[in-house]
Amino acid sequence: MIYMDNAASSWPKPEGVWLAMEKNIRNVGANPSRGAHRLALEAGRALYQAREKVAEFFGAPDPTGVVFTHNATAALNQAIKGYLHPGDHVVTTSMEHNSVIRPLRSMARRGVEVTVVQCDGEGFIRPEDLKKAVRPNTRMIALTHASNVTGTLMPAGEAVDIARQGEAILLLDVAQTAGLLPFSLHELQADMIAFPGHKGLLGPQGTGGLYIRPGLVLEPLLEGGTGSHSELEYQPDVLPDRYESGTPNTVGLAGLAAGIDFIRQVGADEIRRHEADLTAHFLEELKNIPGVKVYGPRDTAQRVGVVSLNLGDIGSSEVGFMLDRVYDIAVRTGLHCSPLAHQTLGTVRQGTVRFSFSFFNTHEEVSEAVKALRAIGREFLG
Ligand code: ALA
Repeated sequence: MIYMDNAASSWPKPEGVWLAMEKNIRNVGANPSRGAHRLALEAGRALYQAREKVAEFFGAPDPTGVVFTHNATAALNQAIKGYLHPGDHVVTTSMEHNSVIRPLRSMARRGVEVTVVQCDGEGFIRPEDLKKAVRPNTRMIALTHASNVTGTLMPAGEAVDIARQGEAILLLDVAQTAGLLPFSLHELQADMIAFPGHKGLLGPQGTGGLYIRPGLVLEPLLEGGTGSHSELEYQPDVLPDRYESGTPNTVGLAGLAAGIDFIRQVGADEIRRHEADLTAHFLEELKNIPGVKVYGPRDTAQRVGVVSLNLGDIGSSEVGFMLDRVYDIAVRTGLHCSPLAHQTLGTVRQGTVRFSFSFFNTHEEVSEAVKALRAIGREFLG
């Protein structure tokens, strides 16, 4: 199997990830912060280590600003529904995933105003268009760091400047860049970032989180047991407990910590370099296949390793089916939970065939994918 669906979930994982998870579930297994026995304390340590590693990796000033969730969607819901109130205005873009758009549409029913700024045919947003959309009551700019359809990198730096000129905060969705593009919170200056653990950070599914900058207070989406202040009938204010009710995914978070260890060993720059090389190789070869239409920027400095394409007018799911069944290549097809992005690209009817690379893909695999696309094109388009 050639796996090129890393934008959905990365696979394979480094050996250290599954060994850390096995070690945790075999030898620890207890509930962190919910008991004073040795195993509960050890589980608490594993959880704290994971939090410290994530905070250090992103350059967060304080590990308690990292709130663990089960995925980036949960983090985005917490950020959006926990921060906005009726009468507030939000600016977002036409390249966002449904994990941003759906909570925003739901908040619009509760009196939040939403402006979706149109991106261009390659998925770029013009900072001046973002700026024009801001109003006196704009409280948030919600922006993807890179599109999950075209890989297009978004101007996070400009967005934060625009937010700071008014009363808004920047919520950045780093689902397609965390672990893949070296960045620090210090550079980004975002007020909140929502990240998945199971994509570029190389952890397992069921992990992710929200970084909340010091001083920003949200309404918690969930309330319940935190293992702290059990005498209180109300949710405690202490961080990260305020936003983390219920038993956490300690086993998964032990895996996430090991994923981050792997990234640090290899080097985030090296991972970025390898994926950019694979992407450049793929884009170059695609030019020689008749009937291929590639979406998104051609310059690898302006994108991550997520490449959407179509072959003539063949349905994207048909191409994906052939790639899987005949050529043993896994990709994602259709709308990728981002219908607005497909409206932007003009691909709502056909969808796209999306290839997404990880550090574990090779140039030989890219050549195999190109060969397969050429053969499918020959068979269906003549
Ligand atoms: N958001 C993930 C994707 O783009 C699941 O495939």
